[in-house]
Amino acid sequence: MNIKKHLVAEAAIELLEDGMIVGLGTGSTSSIAIDLIGKRVSEGLNILGIPTSKASENQATSLGIPLTSLSSHPSIDITIDGADEVSPSLDLIKGLGGALVREKIVENQSKQLVIIIDDSKLVSQLGICPLPVEVIFFGHEATSISLANLGCNPVLRMDNEKPFISDNGNVIYHCNFAEGIADPLALSLDIDKIPGVVTSGLFVNMADVILIGSDDGLKTLKRH
Ligand code: 5RP
Repeated sequence: MNIKKHLVAEAAIELLEDGMIVGLGTGSTSSIAIDLIGKRVSEGLNILGIPTSKASENQATSLGIPLTSLSSHPSIDITIDGADEVSPSLDLIKGLGGALVREKIVENQSKQLVIIIDDSKLVSQLGICPLPVEVIFFGHEATSISLANLGCNPVLRMDNEKPFISDNGNVIYHCNFAEGIADPLALSLDIDKIPGVVTSGLFVNMADVILIGSDDGLKTLKRH
């Protein structure tokens, strides 16, 4: 059992209240949170979940968590999700789990975004890990040249010998920025302007609360 991930997942679940619409994140930390939500639901918690991936949807369904959709509930009370990197200004890199597009759509509709991480995800500047960018399959090699022109080395994400295909039927490029990402907002806007790009894993000005599991216990960062 990963004690740090359990600690933050448990702390996040404490924020849930009866009647809430809850965004369900994707990844190993979110998966622990979904397990705990399933337990709370079996004990009587009354929430509706909106999953950010087919994996989270399958897990939630198997646990008996009632689900809804953004069409029925376009305003989400709280989303609990992991992240790959968190900067001092609470900007994020997400999507190494491949679910960045649905995560960004769901989290953009959330009144509160709670990010659950262990302390290895805290960085002084984003870009130590590669930045995932989801790209439409048509012409994706050409789109990757436009990404490279922004100063990165884009590498097509593979699944065994074939390109990894997202839940949305697209490919993902992992973009390596040798010098890191100095201005996440500007880069995010530049990437989103490229025809063929769906979106990047830069989540700027989105997280409200970061729950961090560390050797010293739980730490909390909040957006001012
Ligand atoms: C999936 C994500 C995940 O939240 C991110 O990759 C963190 O995952 P984990 O909790 O397994 O470290 O963005 O697309």
